[in-house]
Amino acid sequence: MSKNKYLDLMPASIGKYKILGKLGKGGMGDIYKAMQEPLNRIVAIKVLPPQFSRDDEFAKRFEIEAKAISLLQHQNIVTIHEYGEDDGYRYIAMQFIDGMDLGNYIAETKVVAVSDIIDFSKQICRGLLYAHHHNVVHRDIKPQNILLDKNNIIHITDFGIAKIFSTTDITVTGSTVGTPEYMSPEQAQGKKIDAQSDIYSLGIVMYEMLTRKPPFVANNSMAVAYKQVHEPPMPPSVKRKDTPKQLELIILKAIKKDKRDRYESVEELLTHLDMVDPSERVDRQTQLFHPTLKHAAAADDQRITDRRGGDRRGGILDGVHRSVFSGEYWRTMWRINWPTWLALAALGGALAVHVFKR
Ligand SMILES: Nc1ncnc2c1ncn2[C@@H]1O[C@H](COP(=O)(O)OP(=O)(O)OP(=O)(O)O)[C@@H](O)[C@H]1O
Ligand SMILES: [Mg+2]
Repeated sequence: MSKNKYLDLMPASIGKYKILGKLGKGGMGDIYKAMQEPLNRIVAIKVLPPQFSRDDEFAKRFEIEAKAISLLQHQNIVTIHEYGEDDGYRYIAMQFIDGMDLGNYIAETKVVAVSDIIDFSKQICRGLLYAHHHNVVHRDIKPQNILLDKNNIIHITDFGIAKIFSTTDITVTGSTVGTPEYMSPEQAQGKKIDAQSDIYSLGIVMYEMLTRKPPFVANNSMAVAYKQVHEPPMPPSVKRKDTPKQLELIILKAIKKDKRDRYESVEELLTHLDMVDPSERVDRQTQLFHPTLKHAAAADDQRITDRRGGDRRGGILDGVHRSVFSGEYWRTMWRINWPTWLALAALGGALAVHVFKR
């Protein structure tokens, strides 16, 4: 690696790649835009922090994982051109995507169209499905790892990179492996990760595309991780009124705390996404009922199952309607309709005074 005389922090070249500029800095190294000579091909190069190259265990894992991810060839996955080492720096040269990452897209777009959310989610699903079929789990699905090119094609990047770092004792200053806001409960608890963990993270990304924020946020990573494990999510339709009913159910199923309640495979999720009717909204009453998440969560499982059984018109409120004789139902009714109940009580009182006065 040759150093740039003028910019101390940025190398002039790495291997056969001439560095053109810095694209970003992540927890697992810096990423540069570079030119591959003599092909004149523009690439993106991820350069891993130097302390890793001195670790034999890490070097072994890097070889294994880099080989596995460089075999992935799919329209919705960033292609790995080459991986290697130069002057003690390990790097991965990959396809350069001319566009922006989904995090920036959400920030710039303000309200992402429902049709785009469904389209992007399906493309992410197709990339994930392909990788899962090749036994590669992403482990760090988040908007910054989802790139959108100028033709609105999704390219997932950093496949499996988190695994290279997962069991090393070396830490990169100020970073953790995985991103708390998108981490599945099992990952937050340090348990085994599999394809269903990617489904959870994708559900969080879909939630963020709809509402502009992931469902679990807090001041520090520990607090976010706690929420991932224990806090039920606010249904997205509470935050965004034009959320299609079926899309909400899909997201809530994808981000179930318990893996057994989640989609078993991306294939299943994709099939449900194909059936979303964007014009079918969540009932307003359902939105107002969000404090009774217990019921909504039970009902949405039922609803997803019902759809497969041909009952396409059941609602998320099914469970709530059934509890009309419960105290909770009437407490909620009071909370959301108390001015009406007060007016009715006043009317009743006036009527009683009128009747008994005679
Ligand atoms: N192949 C690529 N083509 C174009 N831009 C890219 C490419 N890969 C990454 N980027 C840009 O560089 C930014 C930084 O990526 P990087 O992977 O280094 O950081 P990150 O995703 O935020 O964190 P992490 O290290 O946890 O993955 C991305 O958000 C994206 O905007
Ligand atoms: Mg990344």
